[in-house]
Amino acid sequence: MSSFSTSLSSSSPFLSNHSSLINSDPSRRSLSFPQGINLDDLCVRSQRKLVQSSVAVGDGFGFCTILRLFLMRLPLVLGAVITKSSSAEIKTEPLSIPSQEADKLVIESNGGEQQSTVSITVVGASGDLAKKKIFPALFALYYEGCLPEHFTIYGYARSKMTDAELRDMVSKTLTCRIDKRENCGEKMEEFLKRCFYHTGQYDSQEHFVTLDKKLKEHEGGRLSNRLFYLSIPPNIFVDAVKCASSSASSVSGWTRVIVEKPFGRDSKTSAALTKSLKQYLEEDQIFRIDHYLGKELVENLSVLRFSNLIFEPLWSRQYIQNVQFIFSEDFGTEGRGGYFDHYGIIRDIMQNHLLQILALFAMETPVSLVAEDIRNEKVKVLRSMRPIQLEDVVIGQYKSTTKGGVTYPGYTDDKTVPKDSLTPTFAAAALFIDNARWDGVPFLMKAGKALHTRSAEIRVQFRHVPGNLYNRNSGGTNLDRTTNELVIRVQPDEGIYLKINNKVPGLGMRLDQSNLNLLYSARYSKEIPDAYERLLLDAIEGERRLFIRSDELDAAWALFTPLLKEIEEKKTIPEFYPYGSRGPVGAHYLAAKHNVQWGDLSLDQ
Ligand code: NDP
Ligand code: BG6
Repeated sequence: MSSFSTSLSSSSPFLSNHSSLINSDPSRRSLSFPQGINLDDLCVRSQRKLVQSSVAVGDGFGFCTILRLFLMRLPLVLGAVITKSSSAEIKTEPLSIPSQEADKLVIESNGGEQQSTVSITVVGASGDLAKKKIFPALFALYYEGCLPEHFTIYGYARSKMTDAELRDMVSKTLTCRIDKRENCGEKMEEFLKRCFYHTGQYDSQEHFVTLDKKLKEHEGGRLSNRLFYLSIPPNIFVDAVKCASSSASSVSGWTRVIVEKPFGRDSKTSAALTKSLKQYLEEDQIFRIDHYLGKELVENLSVLRFSNLIFEPLWSRQYIQNVQFIFSEDFGTEGRGGYFDHYGIIRDIMQNHLLQILALFAMETPVSLVAEDIRNEKVKVLRSMRPIQLEDVVIGQYKSTTKGGVTYPGYTDDKTVPKDSLTPTFAAAALFIDNARWDGVPFLMKAGKALHTRSAEIRVQFRHVPGNLYNRNSGGTNLDRTTNELVIRVQPDEGIYLKINNKVPGLGMRLDQSNLNLLYSARYSKEIPDAYERLLLDAIEGERRLFIRSDELDAAWALFTPLLKEIEEKKTIPEFYPYGSRGPVGAHYLAAKHNVQWGDLSLDQ
């Protein structure tokens, strides 16, 4: 039985935050509302949430319009007189306010004693991920006005640190939005004042009891919601959850736990971890994070596919020849060799990040955008996948190389890695989905460290035009050069482009391949939020869409466990490749075996 209290979706801090924003300048009020909401100041996130529920058309359509429409419904619950904005002309379905959220809004707008608060405890606050990603993401949310009015952040770890030392540590990694930079220093100071530290062991009930007392002091009798972010090595996840659950969970609001990967090493260990976590938590309190799902372009994948008529009809074996999911880093495992050697690139990147993207890419249209509907479709894809054959996999490991007088270390030069380690730092694989939509289409994955470039992308290569009239005008007989390719560049330089055949201007008839190009930095002035920002906010709001459900995890492990076991049992020797190269040659043969060329390595990528 779980000792955590059940999640209360009603206490969305998203709403509580907004209702507390007061517009002091009457000229900017477009609605009469008890406390006056400044429509322009709202967390940009609310735009996403509200827009999800409506279809917007036209330039003049903005978030404020949606919000006004939303607020038009408020009299129903607030009994307040709200005047209709003249600008609310866009045709859209009015949004309905879930009754629980509305109740919450009433409490908040009354300034009642039962205001809610969120306490976020970063367990493992002294570590790399906390410094690099979690605290900066929390600050970014604060900076954007996305955190509720009342919130407290606690760092928890064994290292001895004072609040001031934590603040000092955290302050070194905070940055402000390049596109805003308003009152940045001031906001950092305000944010840091909300950060505290508690020294404790991960398996000490007593230390979590003390944490609980401190959290209560900050919560000051408000309805308390608590989020624990487990940013610690996996072997201590269960200890920490046990202590947090029995000694520091919320008694009045929700308690949620974000769990970082790795979620086990194979089906068995993953199932054991899930079982242990479920001794203390309900499934809906567990937020298994895969930060690739929080990346902007990955989020956009479904938008691209399901809201553009031109793509969905092409999204099948009929038009798509192959799909490629490519991850490459131009640095090695520096600093993380100890962790990495136990896992390897297949567990570190493929079984989670790339497979999650594949599932989103290949799933059938979900019934709705509700988390369970999407996750149901993803699970179906994962369960339709053909077992991966070792012959369809290439593994590699980077070796030391010297370039321009600089020597780059090999993987086994890392002191934390055994000299005879066979752990792959590179892998390429051909996967297949045995369903009606994707029968026979190779889904190629490639992931590697210490390669020539850093990038993550999805490449969709289309079939040849049958009986193409222009074959002779395309400069040769290589049909692969004339097929269309849709590239979704997840990072860096986020963008989407479509390779098309085009007539080279002039009197002759010569075709080349050109790109219809959507480069985000050219189109949107807004800085792209870090994946951790989106996911942290989702966890606070109780939005589970981008987190991994336990059956998804089981299906992902069921696919990769036999392969990993075979590689390890056979002690398969990885193909060595020089640091900074394009990876093992074997990856090209693998692609060729399936009549594919890696798009990222072609001359005109
Ligand atoms: P760290 O190794 O930096 O560990 C975090 C903290 O946990 C440390 O500061 C330390 O705090 C405590 N800790 C470390 N080892 C032990 C141990 N053996 N026993 C008890 N406590 C220990 O991890 P990261 O911050 O790099 O990662 C945290 C989690 O996030 C891990 O699960 C990792 O796999 C995952 N992750 C990390 C990524 C990254 O880029 N770093 C990326 C994706 C996932 P103290 O000694 O003060 O208690
Ligand atoms: C993590 C892996 O999950 O993702 C790391 O453990 C990898 O090995 C990292 O470096 C890559 O994330 P990003 O967001 O920097 O591409």
